[in-house]
Amino acid sequence: MLTLTTMFKALTLACILALWIGVDALDNGLALTPPMGWMAWERFRCNVDCTNDPDNCISESLFMTMSDLLVSEGYADAGYEVVSLDDCWLADERDVDGKLQPDPLRFPSGLKALGDYIHAKGLLFGMYEDYGTHTCAGYPGILGHLETDANTFAEWGVDYLKLDGCYADPKDMDAGYPEFGQYLNATNRPIVYSCSWPDYQREEGMTPDWESIIKTCNLWRNFDDIQDSWASVTSIVDYYGDNQDSIIPNAGPGHWNDPDMLIIGNFGLSYDQAKVQMALWAILAAPLIMSNDLRDIDPKFKAILLNKEIIAVDQDKLGIQGRRLSKVSLSSIVQVYQRAVVGGSLMS
Ligand SMILES: *[C@@H]1O[C@H](CO)[C@@H](O)[C@H](O)[C@H]1NC(C)=O
Repeated sequence: MLTLTTMFKALTLACILALWIGVDALDNGLALTPPMGWMAWERFRCNVDCTNDPDNCISESLFMTMSDLLVSEGYADAGYEVVSLDDCWLADERDVDGKLQPDPLRFPSGLKALGDYIHAKGLLFGMYEDYGTHTCAGYPGILGHLETDANTFAEWGVDYLKLDGCYADPKDMDAGYPEFGQYLNATNRPIVYSCSWPDYQREEGMTPDWESIIKTCNLWRNFDDIQDSWASVTSIVDYYGDNQDSIIPNAGPGHWNDPDMLIIGNFGLSYDQAKVQMALWAILAAPLIMSNDLRDIDPKFKAILLNKEIIAVDQDKLGIQGRRLSKVSLSSIVQVYQRAVVGGSLMS
């Protein structure tokens, strides 16, 4: 076992090395700690049926309600500040000028107005699109319209953009994601750039170009979408652990691995399993993006999401992603993790 003194020395060395080498990363000044917020997908999916399910369909009122609750229920104070759309906000077609437009029935006020509402709450506006011809659910993608769409997002006041990778050739992404990043940059609006690029390339058996990804994106997905189950959480955690030597070095202030949303407060995790997701996401220096129904969360689960000490580990400013030290093979339910945080204290 390492002594604490050895750890202090190792940490000091790591800091000096980081300063000396410097990291050639995206320098838009954003996401210096992992982003925190709320996103619609895992809980609300592509529910577009506002006739029969008005309270749960993807609509402006859903995002306004969640913005209200982020503030009134104390989540914003704890750091959860991005309110993010996911797929299925779009109309089936672009408008007559070729610009993206939201579904007119579900977003009657338009997205500039929704962004204004979110900003008035002191929160940030998260947006979703897809690099390909279509989004995963079949709505218009950005391919062929990169510059127009970057400008549209800036006009709407978008602060955070998740760019998915359905209906695209993963081989084109090495050029396409950086190209769109250039257009985002050219808007002069600071926009956190969340990329699905390496995950789609992994699925194709390609080796992602990490050097380019770190220079282009503030965060990126490495692995499958999370589902509302313990099996899904463990499959993600196992992937990160099994591949940690190539994953961990890519994380740091401004550029993070994203193991996907927190599902705490939904149906799939027990109380203890929910604590494990929160703790592991903090050790992995993961974005803490909840996807749950803030109108209806058991106080016990809410307390996990608002746990200040765990959030502080996640948000540690050194941004050193933790690692799996052991996975006891006879019973894989026992795993040991370690993450170094500021001051050389150790969380295992
Ligand atoms: C654009 O890129 C430059 C150079 O990397 C960077 O300094 C600047 O902060 C970026 N601006 C925005 C709005 O992202």
